[in-house]
Amino acid sequence: MNKEIVDFTKTLVLTAGSMLREALIGQVYCAYKEGDQRDLLTEYDVKIQDFLISRLRKEYPKHKFISEEQSNNQDLSGLVWIIDPIDGTTNFVCFKKDFAISVALYQDGKPLFGIVYDVIKGDLYLGITGQGAYLNNQKLSRINECELKNCILDASLNSVQIFYNRYNRPIFNIAQDIRGHRSLGVASLAICKIALGEIQIYLSAKLKAWDFAAAGIFLNEVGGYYGAVCQESLSLTGKPTAFMACSSKSLFHQILLKYFKK
Ligand code: IPD
Ligand code: CA
Ligand code: CA
Repeated sequence: MNKEIVDFTKTLVLTAGSMLREALIGQVYCAYKEGDQRDLLTEYDVKIQDFLISRLRKEYPKHKFISEEQSNNQDLSGLVWIIDPIDGTTNFVCFKKDFAISVALYQDGKPLFGIVYDVIKGDLYLGITGQGAYLNNQKLSRINECELKNCILDASLNSVQIFYNRYNRPIFNIAQDIRGHRSLGVASLAICKIALGEIQIYLSAKLKAWDFAAAGIFLNEVGGYYGAVCQESLSLTGKPTAFMACSSKSLFHQILLKYFKK
């Protein structure tokens, strides 16, 4: 992977992070997307998206963009950026922390590199396909295997309800077989935390490409694994998908077999 493009993207993401920290000094107002009080939108979701896309487009006029706050087409040919300007908008509004900027570059649907930036902690996660995962420029080693009974799972109550109501998967039964569960409210950072060995499983009943595009690269580079569940297939263009990320492929398949097969 060309170092210049990675470094340029890093600089942009760090600048966007400063814009968000500055925004939090004042009052942040939010609206509901499509009247859903569980889906917040602030002016900064759009501002950061516009900032990132305009700078990237200026530098790389032929590249395409898939991003949460715009309408996207299905064309994955060539070089395509997949962007979540703020992942974890509820955390951004309510806690002023635990949210991220997520930017990934794909070529013909294949991942090249991704950056997830934890804006308040200042942690920058970089995954480069075939070259490794770096936390603040430090290369990570492979994730240690973890038995199911020692695993911590991240999932939202919303997702647990959807897995049951829409897919008829009573995934809450996994509670008796694992160490515990948490809900960070930010998919990209939860997936990065699997790569760090802090948690082992992330589940979402409706994940979109921009939530996992960058973090998934980071996770893969240290031996983690992710994919669709409930007989769905992953979409890179924004169709919500039943999704699971795990610290290893074997753990992924073990959970799939025990809790998702019908
Ligand atoms: C959300 C967060 C959350 C996940 C939702 C996402 P947003 O991102 O990542 O953890 O459960 O599915 O939509 O909407 O704040 O960018
Ligand atoms: Ca998101
Ligand atoms: Ca978002």
